[in-house]
Amino acid sequence: MAAVVIRSIARTLKRPATAASAAYSTGGCTCTSKKLEGKVALITGGASGLGKATAAEFLRHGARVVIADLDAESGIKAAKELGPAAEFVRCDVTVEADVAGAVEMTVAKHGKLDVMYNNAGIVGPISPPSISELDMTEFEKVMRINVIAVVSGIKHAAKVMIPAGSGCILCTSSIAGVLGGFAPHSYTISKFTIPGIVKSAASELCEHGVRINCISPATVATPLTLRYLRKVFPKVTDEKLRETVKGMGELKRAECEEADVAKAALYLASSDGKYVSGHNLIVDGGMTAFKINGFPFPSDS
Ligand SMILES: NC(=O)c1ccc[n+]([C@@H]2O[C@H](COP(=O)([O-])OP(=O)(O)OC[C@H]3O[C@@H](n4cnc5c(N)ncnc54)[C@H](O)[C@@H]3O)[C@@H](O)[C@H]2O)c1
Repeated sequence: MAAVVIRSIARTLKRPATAASAAYSTGGCTCTSKKLEGKVALITGGASGLGKATAAEFLRHGARVVIADLDAESGIKAAKELGPAAEFVRCDVTVEADVAGAVEMTVAKHGKLDVMYNNAGIVGPISPPSISELDMTEFEKVMRINVIAVVSGIKHAAKVMIPAGSGCILCTSSIAGVLGGFAPHSYTISKFTIPGIVKSAASELCEHGVRINCISPATVATPLTLRYLRKVFPKVTDEKLRETVKGMGELKRAECEEADVAKAALYLASSDGKYVSGHNLIVDGGMTAFKINGFPFPSDS
Protein backbone atom coordinates (compact mmCIF):
# COMPACT_ATOMS: atom_id res chain seq x y z
CA MET A 1 0.00 0.00 0.00
CA ALA A 2 2.75 2.43 1.01
CA ALA A 3 4.62 1.69 -2.21
CA VAL A 4 1.52 2.51 -4.27
CA VAL A 5 1.05 5.80 -2.43
CA ILE A 6 4.72 6.77 -2.87
CA ARG A 7 4.57 5.92 -6.59
CA SER A 8 1.42 8.04 -6.95
CA ILE A 9 3.02 11.01 -5.21
CA ALA A 10 6.20 10.70 -7.28
CA ARG A 11 4.17 10.61 -10.50
CA THR A 12 2.06 13.59 -9.44
CA LEU A 13 5.14 15.70 -8.67
CA LYS A 14 6.77 14.73 -11.97
CA ARG A 15 3.72 15.44 -14.09
CA PRO A 16 4.45 18.03 -16.77
CA ALA A 17 2.14 21.02 -17.16
CA THR A 18 1.01 19.90 -20.63
CA ALA A 19 0.43 16.17 -20.85
CA ALA A 20 0.89 15.27 -24.49
CA SER A 21 2.74 16.52 -27.49
CA ALA A 22 2.47 15.70 -31.15
CA ALA A 23 5.87 13.99 -31.07
CA TYR A 24 4.77 11.19 -33.34
CA SER A 25 2.01 10.61 -35.79
CA THR A 26 0.35 7.30 -36.58
CA GLY A 27 -1.26 8.65 -39.74
CA GLY A 28 -0.60 7.07 -43.12
CA CYS A 29 0.03 3.45 -44.00
CA THR A 30 3.64 2.32 -44.23
CA CYS A 31 2.88 -1.41 -44.56
CA THR A 32 2.81 -3.22 -47.86
CA SER A 33 0.40 -6.11 -47.20
CA LYS A 34 -3.27 -5.43 -47.88
CA LYS A 35 -5.33 -6.77 -45.02
CA LEU A 36 -8.81 -6.33 -46.49
CA GLU A 37 -8.21 -7.34 -50.10
CA GLY A 38 -11.53 -8.37 -51.68
CA LYS A 39 -13.58 -7.33 -48.64
CA VAL A 40 -16.68 -5.14 -48.72
CA ALA A 41 -17.34 -2.71 -45.86
CA LEU A 42 -20.26 -0.46 -45.01
CA ILE A 43 -19.48 2.45 -42.66
CA THR A 44 -22.21 4.62 -41.15
CA GLY A 45 -21.16 8.21 -40.45
CA GLY A 46 -18.39 7.63 -42.99
CA ALA A 47 -18.59 11.13 -44.47
CA SER A 48 -16.60 12.75 -41.66
CA GLY A 49 -14.16 12.29 -38.79
CA LEU A 50 -13.45 8.78 -37.52
CA GLY A 51 -15.70 7.06 -40.07
CA LYS A 52 -14.00 8.80 -42.99
CA ALA A 53 -10.53 8.03 -41.62
CA THR A 54 -11.54 4.36 -41.23
CA ALA A 55 -12.92 4.31 -44.78
CA ALA A 56 -9.55 5.62 -46.02
CA GLU A 57 -7.66 2.98 -44.02
CA PHE A 58 -9.91 0.14 -45.28
CA LEU A 59 -9.49 1.37 -48.87
CA ARG A 60 -5.69 1.47 -48.48
CA HIS A 61 -5.97 -2.18 -47.47
CA GLY A 62 -7.88 -3.23 -50.57
CA ALA A 63 -11.50 -3.07 -49.39
CA ARG A 64 -14.42 -1.61 -51.29
CA VAL A 65 -16.21 0.81 -48.98
CA VAL A 66 -19.78 2.09 -48.90
CA ILE A 67 -20.16 5.28 -46.91
CA ALA A 68 -23.67 5.60 -45.42
CA ASP A 69 -24.38 9.05 -44.05
CA LEU A 70 -27.14 11.55 -43.46
CA ASP A 71 -25.05 14.36 -44.91
CA ALA A 72 -25.23 13.79 -48.68
CA GLU A 73 -23.01 16.74 -49.58
CA SER A 74 -20.11 15.62 -47.38
CA GLY A 75 -20.72 11.96 -48.25
CA ILE A 76 -20.51 12.50 -52.02
CA LYS A 77 -17.44 14.69 -51.54
CA ALA A 78 -15.76 12.11 -49.29
CA ALA A 79 -16.43 9.24 -51.71
CA LYS A 80 -14.97 11.27 -54.58
CA GLU A 81 -11.91 12.15 -52.50
CA LEU A 82 -11.40 8.55 -51.39
CA GLY A 83 -11.38 7.16 -54.92
CA PRO A 84 -13.23 4.71 -57.18
CA ALA A 85 -13.47 1.90 -54.60
CA ALA A 86 -15.54 4.19 -52.35
CA GLU A 87 -19.17 5.08 -52.88
CA PHE A 88 -21.85 6.95 -51.00
CA VAL A 89 -25.39 6.03 -50.03
CA ARG A 90 -27.61 8.49 -48.23
CA CYS A 91 -28.84 6.93 -45.01
CA ASP A 92 -30.42 8.27 -41.85
CA VAL A 93 -29.45 5.57 -39.36
CA THR A 94 -32.47 6.43 -37.20
CA VAL A 95 -34.72 5.20 -40.02
CA GLU A 96 -34.57 1.40 -40.02
CA ALA A 97 -35.62 1.21 -43.68
CA ASP A 98 -32.60 3.38 -44.61
CA VAL A 99 -30.23 1.03 -42.76
CA ALA A 100 -31.84 -2.02 -44.37
CA GLY A 101 -31.63 -0.25 -47.75
CA ALA A 102 -27.92 0.54 -47.33
CA VAL A 103 -27.17 -3.12 -46.51
CA GLU A 104 -29.34 -4.34 -49.42
CA MET A 105 -27.70 -1.92 -51.84
CA THR A 106 -24.23 -3.06 -50.75
CA VAL A 107 -25.07 -6.75 -51.17
CA ALA A 108 -26.85 -6.14 -54.50
CA LYS A 109 -23.86 -4.27 -55.88
CA HIS A 110 -20.96 -6.22 -54.36
CA GLY A 111 -22.52 -9.62 -53.71
CA LYS A 112 -21.74 -9.61 -49.98
CA LEU A 113 -21.10 -7.60 -46.81
CA ASP A 114 -17.92 -8.48 -44.90
CA VAL A 115 -17.68 -5.55 -42.48
CA MET A 116 -20.47 -3.42 -41.02
CA TYR A 117 -19.22 -0.47 -38.98
CA ASN A 118 -22.00 1.21 -36.94
CA ASN A 119 -20.17 4.43 -36.30
CA ALA A 120 -22.55 7.40 -36.80
CA GLY A 121 -23.19 9.31 -33.60
CA ILE A 122 -23.96 12.69 -32.07
CA VAL A 123 -23.14 14.31 -28.73
CA GLY A 124 -26.48 16.04 -28.20
CA PRO A 125 -27.03 19.26 -26.28
CA ILE A 126 -24.56 20.35 -23.62
CA SER A 127 -27.19 21.93 -21.41
CA PRO A 128 -28.84 21.68 -19.04
CA PRO A 129 -25.85 20.06 -17.36
CA SER A 130 -27.80 18.61 -14.43
CA ILE A 131 -29.53 15.26 -14.77
CA SER A 132 -32.30 16.75 -12.64
CA GLU A 133 -33.12 19.01 -15.60
CA LEU A 134 -32.61 16.41 -18.35
CA ASP A 135 -34.73 17.07 -21.43
CA MET A 136 -36.19 13.63 -22.15
CA THR A 137 -36.96 14.47 -25.78
CA GLU A 138 -33.31 15.35 -26.39
CA PHE A 139 -32.25 12.26 -24.45
CA GLU A 140 -34.39 10.08 -26.73
CA LYS A 141 -32.87 11.74 -29.81
CA VAL A 142 -29.35 10.88 -28.68
CA MET A 143 -30.42 7.33 -27.80
CA ARG A 144 -32.07 6.92 -31.23
CA ILE A 145 -28.86 7.72 -33.09
CA ASN A 146 -26.22 6.38 -30.70
CA VAL A 147 -28.02 3.25 -29.49
CA ILE A 148 -31.16 2.23 -31.42
CA ALA A 149 -29.49 2.84 -34.79
CA VAL A 150 -26.52 0.71 -33.72
CA VAL A 151 -28.87 -2.15 -32.86
CA SER A 152 -30.63 -1.70 -36.19
CA GLY A 153 -27.25 -1.79 -37.98
CA ILE A 154 -26.34 -5.02 -36.17
CA LYS A 155 -29.74 -6.51 -37.03
CA HIS A 156 -29.50 -5.85 -40.76
CA ALA A 157 -25.85 -6.87 -40.98
CA ALA A 158 -26.69 -10.11 -39.15
CA LYS A 159 -29.45 -10.84 -41.68
CA VAL A 160 -26.83 -11.22 -44.41
CA MET A 161 -23.83 -12.35 -42.34
CA ILE A 162 -25.57 -15.25 -40.55
CA PRO A 163 -26.51 -17.03 -43.82
CA ALA A 164 -23.02 -16.26 -45.16
CA GLY A 165 -21.48 -17.83 -42.03
CA SER A 166 -18.94 -15.03 -41.70
CA GLY A 167 -18.61 -11.30 -41.18
CA CYS A 168 -17.39 -8.66 -38.80
CA ILE A 169 -19.50 -6.01 -37.10
CA LEU A 170 -17.93 -2.98 -35.45
CA CYS A 171 -19.56 -0.27 -33.34
CA THR A 172 -18.19 2.98 -31.95
CA SER A 173 -18.51 3.52 -28.22
CA SER A 174 -16.26 6.04 -26.42
CA ILE A 175 -14.18 6.60 -23.30
CA ALA A 176 -17.38 8.37 -22.21
CA GLY A 177 -18.81 4.83 -22.09
CA VAL A 178 -16.04 3.64 -19.79
CA LEU A 179 -16.01 6.38 -17.13
CA GLY A 180 -18.73 8.87 -16.19
CA GLY A 181 -18.09 12.59 -16.38
CA PHE A 182 -16.37 12.97 -19.78
CA ALA A 183 -19.49 14.14 -21.63
CA PRO A 184 -23.14 15.15 -21.13
CA HIS A 185 -25.37 12.52 -19.48
CA SER A 186 -27.26 11.47 -22.61
CA TYR A 187 -24.07 10.83 -24.57
CA THR A 188 -22.42 9.04 -21.65
CA ILE A 189 -25.44 6.80 -21.06
CA SER A 190 -25.72 6.03 -24.78
CA LYS A 191 -22.06 5.05 -25.07
CA PHE A 192 -22.17 2.83 -21.95
CA THR A 193 -24.78 0.67 -23.69
CA ILE A 194 -22.56 -0.20 -26.66
CA PRO A 195 -20.22 -2.77 -25.02
CA GLY A 196 -23.35 -4.44 -23.57
CA ILE A 197 -25.07 -4.58 -26.96
CA VAL A 198 -21.88 -6.07 -28.43
CA LYS A 199 -21.67 -8.79 -25.77
CA SER A 200 -25.33 -9.68 -26.16
CA ALA A 201 -25.03 -9.95 -29.95
CA ALA A 202 -21.72 -11.88 -29.68
CA SER A 203 -23.48 -14.51 -27.57
CA GLU A 204 -25.56 -15.40 -30.63
CA LEU A 205 -23.31 -14.46 -33.54
CA CYS A 206 -20.26 -16.51 -32.45
CA GLU A 207 -21.94 -19.77 -33.41
CA HIS A 208 -22.47 -18.39 -36.93
CA GLY A 209 -18.84 -17.38 -37.37
CA VAL A 210 -19.71 -13.68 -37.19
CA ARG A 211 -17.57 -11.48 -34.94
CA ILE A 212 -18.75 -8.29 -33.26
CA ASN A 213 -16.67 -5.76 -31.32
CA CYS A 214 -16.66 -2.12 -30.36
CA ILE A 215 -14.02 0.58 -30.21
CA SER A 216 -13.91 3.18 -27.45
CA PRO A 217 -11.77 6.09 -28.59
CA ALA A 218 -10.44 8.94 -26.49
CA THR A 219 -11.16 12.48 -27.67
CA VAL A 220 -10.04 13.27 -31.21
CA ALA A 221 -10.41 16.74 -32.73
CA THR A 222 -13.02 15.70 -35.33
CA PRO A 223 -15.86 18.02 -36.46
CA LEU A 224 -18.05 16.40 -33.73
CA THR A 225 -15.57 17.29 -30.97
CA LEU A 226 -14.96 20.80 -32.28
CA ARG A 227 -18.72 21.49 -32.54
CA TYR A 228 -19.12 20.34 -28.93
CA LEU A 229 -16.14 22.34 -27.60
CA ARG A 230 -17.25 25.47 -29.47
CA LYS A 231 -20.49 25.36 -27.48
CA VAL A 232 -18.59 25.04 -24.20
CA PHE A 233 -15.89 27.62 -25.08
CA PRO A 234 -17.51 29.93 -27.67
CA LYS A 235 -14.70 32.50 -27.58
CA VAL A 236 -11.79 30.09 -28.08
CA THR A 237 -10.38 29.62 -31.60
CA ASP A 238 -10.51 26.24 -33.37
CA GLU A 239 -6.72 26.13 -33.37
CA LYS A 240 -6.62 26.53 -29.60
CA LEU A 241 -9.39 23.94 -29.19
CA ARG A 242 -7.36 21.46 -31.30
CA GLU A 243 -4.31 22.13 -29.13
CA THR A 244 -6.40 21.56 -26.00
CA VAL A 245 -7.64 18.21 -27.33
CA LYS A 246 -4.04 17.18 -28.06
CA GLY A 247 -3.12 17.86 -24.44
CA MET A 248 -5.99 15.83 -22.97
CA GLY A 249 -4.30 12.43 -22.91
CA GLU A 250 -2.13 10.67 -20.35
CA LEU A 251 0.33 8.84 -22.62
CA LYS A 252 3.50 10.85 -22.94
CA ARG A 253 4.56 12.06 -26.40
CA ALA A 254 1.34 10.78 -28.01
CA GLU A 255 -2.14 11.98 -28.78
CA CYS A 256 -5.24 10.15 -29.96
CA GLU A 257 -5.63 10.67 -33.70
CA GLU A 258 -8.23 9.56 -36.23
CA ALA A 259 -5.66 7.11 -37.60
CA ASP A 260 -5.40 5.34 -34.22
CA VAL A 261 -9.12 4.57 -34.33
CA ALA A 262 -8.93 3.57 -38.01
CA LYS A 263 -6.08 1.16 -37.27
CA ALA A 264 -8.00 -0.34 -34.35
CA ALA A 265 -10.92 -0.89 -36.74
CA LEU A 266 -8.56 -2.43 -39.31
CA TYR A 267 -7.19 -4.83 -36.71
CA LEU A 268 -10.68 -5.95 -35.67
CA ALA A 269 -11.99 -6.14 -39.25
CA SER A 270 -9.04 -8.07 -40.68
CA SER A 271 -7.83 -11.60 -40.00
CA ASP A 272 -5.42 -10.09 -37.43
CA GLY A 273 -8.44 -9.98 -35.12
CA LYS A 274 -9.88 -13.34 -36.22
CA TYR A 275 -10.31 -14.68 -32.66
CA VAL A 276 -11.55 -11.43 -31.10
CA SER A 277 -15.27 -11.07 -30.48
CA GLY A 278 -17.45 -9.44 -27.82
CA HIS A 279 -14.56 -7.09 -27.07
CA ASN A 280 -14.40 -3.38 -26.27
CA LEU A 281 -11.10 -2.08 -27.68
CA ILE A 282 -10.33 1.05 -25.69
CA VAL A 283 -8.03 3.39 -27.63
CA ASP A 284 -7.20 5.94 -24.95
CA GLY A 285 -3.49 5.74 -24.14
CA GLY A 286 -4.31 4.33 -20.72
CA MET A 287 -6.49 7.28 -19.73
CA THR A 288 -9.39 5.27 -18.27
CA ALA A 289 -7.11 2.62 -16.73
CA PHE A 290 -6.08 4.68 -13.72
CA LYS A 291 -6.59 7.80 -11.68
CA ILE A 292 -3.67 9.64 -10.13
CA ASN A 293 -4.44 10.39 -6.50
CA GLY A 294 -4.84 14.11 -5.95
CA PHE A 295 -3.39 14.24 -2.44
CA PRO A 296 -3.78 17.44 -0.47
CA PHE A 297 -0.01 17.95 -0.07
CA PRO A 298 1.23 19.75 3.04
CA SER A 299 2.46 23.22 2.04
CA ASP A 300 6.12 22.40 2.93
CA SER A 301 6.30 19.18 0.82
N1 LIG B 1 -14.36 12.47 -32.01
C1 LIG B 1 -14.20 11.95 -30.81
O1 LIG B 1 -13.47 12.47 -29.97
C2 LIG B 1 -14.92 10.67 -30.46
C3 LIG B 1 -14.48 9.97 -29.33
C4 LIG B 1 -15.14 8.80 -28.97
C5 LIG B 1 -16.20 8.35 -29.74
N2 LIG B 1 -16.61 9.04 -30.83
C6 LIG B 1 -17.71 8.50 -31.61
O2 LIG B 1 -17.23 8.25 -32.92
C7 LIG B 1 -18.31 8.33 -33.84
C8 LIG B 1 -17.92 9.25 -34.98
O3 LIG B 1 -17.69 10.53 -34.44
P1 LIG B 1 -16.84 11.65 -35.19
O4 LIG B 1 -16.06 12.35 -34.16
O5 LIG B 1 -16.16 11.08 -36.36
O6 LIG B 1 -18.03 12.62 -35.63
P2 LIG B 1 -18.30 13.46 -36.97
O7 LIG B 1 -19.38 14.43 -36.60
O8 LIG B 1 -17.04 13.97 -37.54
O9 LIG B 1 -18.90 12.37 -37.95
C9 LIG B 1 -20.11 11.73 -37.66
C10 LIG B 1 -20.83 11.46 -38.95
O10 LIG B 1 -22.09 10.84 -38.61
C11 LIG B 1 -23.08 11.38 -39.47
N3 LIG B 1 -24.39 11.25 -38.86
C12 LIG B 1 -24.90 11.92 -37.80
N4 LIG B 1 -26.18 11.57 -37.59
C13 LIG B 1 -26.47 10.62 -38.53
C14 LIG B 1 -27.62 9.88 -38.84
N5 LIG B 1 -28.76 10.03 -38.16
N6 LIG B 1 -27.57 9.01 -39.87
C15 LIG B 1 -26.43 8.86 -40.60
N7 LIG B 1 -25.31 9.55 -40.36
C16 LIG B 1 -25.33 10.42 -39.35
C17 LIG B 1 -22.68 12.84 -39.67
O11 LIG B 1 -23.28 13.39 -40.84
C18 LIG B 1 -21.17 12.72 -39.77
O12 LIG B 1 -20.75 12.55 -41.11
C19 LIG B 1 -19.52 8.78 -33.05
O13 LIG B 1 -20.30 7.65 -32.70
C20 LIG B 1 -18.90 9.40 -31.81
O14 LIG B 1 -19.77 9.37 -30.72
C21 LIG B 1 -15.98 10.20 -31.21
